[in-house]
Amino acid sequence: MNVVDTDYRFYPADNKADDFYREVVNGLSRFPRRIPPKYFYDEKGAALFESICEQPEYYPTATEFAILREYADEIATHTGTGQVLIEPGCGSCEKVRTLLDAVRPLAYVPVDISCEQLQSAASEIAEDYAWLDVHAVCTDITGTLELPGIFGKEDRLVFYPGSSIGNFEPEDAVRFLAGLAQTAGAGGRLLIGIDLEKDHQILNAAYNDANGVTAEFNLNLLQRINRELDANFDIDAFDHHAFYNSVAGRIEMHLISTRRQTVDIDGHSFEFSAGDSIHTENSYKYSIESFRTLAADAGYKTVDCWTDPGHLFGLYLLEVTTA
Ligand code: TRP
Repeated sequence: MNVVDTDYRFYPADNKADDFYREVVNGLSRFPRRIPPKYFYDEKGAALFESICEQPEYYPTATEFAILREYADEIATHTGTGQVLIEPGCGSCEKVRTLLDAVRPLAYVPVDISCEQLQSAASEIAEDYAWLDVHAVCTDITGTLELPGIFGKEDRLVFYPGSSIGNFEPEDAVRFLAGLAQTAGAGGRLLIGIDLEKDHQILNAAYNDANGVTAEFNLNLLQRINRELDANFDIDAFDHHAFYNSVAGRIEMHLISTRRQTVDIDGHSFEFSAGDSIHTENSYKYSIESFRTLAADAGYKTVDCWTDPGHLFGLYLLEVTTA
């Protein structure tokens, strides 16, 4: 890759290594035990997540791609062209490709916590779209999102696909979206993908794929703790457990201890009985109406909303009303 020709810039990580240790020890010291899901995405976790998206049971990725392809031109009639397009948690940066030719942004700012994947994904975009400025920012998107200083008063479009908003508690989702409204500015836009409420069997299957990739992804969190934090989790003594909690309206993901055991993490000991859980992720599902209300609470009005024929997934174009 030629950095100058493709006009690609990389802003390296601002994360502190100590945070991982602190948050794991804190999370395992309270009940229910929890580990923040952002730690799933080390290099191996990011690759496993790409593989989850290719599993036949994990319908959200293919469904959202189909909606994006079908409506990219219509989306562009609302957004116009020439904005700064910001994608928090861009992962492999594949979905944005469906938009770039229609929306023709001035610059693309992919942001992700997984630096290796971000660097290769962003440089591929820069190569494939020679007319586009790419500024890749490696950071934790749940912190304050600072854009590279070269940007000024250009219009902004934030792209947040994949229903990752469902991984926040609803009140945290409102706070996070209100933060993105600050980034987008008054009149700015947010194009966001939402996994919709549906038949529980479809939901349960999506998080329990037959190839066991989601299980491997979940368990990689413990492997990462072993690798990076001098811990001794016995990976074979934990099971992946994912199910739809219909009262809370969410998929819950857990790691369940299959026996009594003690785990040491760099000087701290943690006792587990058989059946004890580490809660690793939630994935809230919304109705078309309930997400519209959540977006309104965060300071947006809905410009338009597209869905697939089976109403599995919704893509919303929102406009910032308060900033
Ligand atoms: N945003 C995705 C979702 O909630 C993330 C996801 C899919 C995920 N499968 C997972 C996160 C398995 C953790 C474990 O659907």
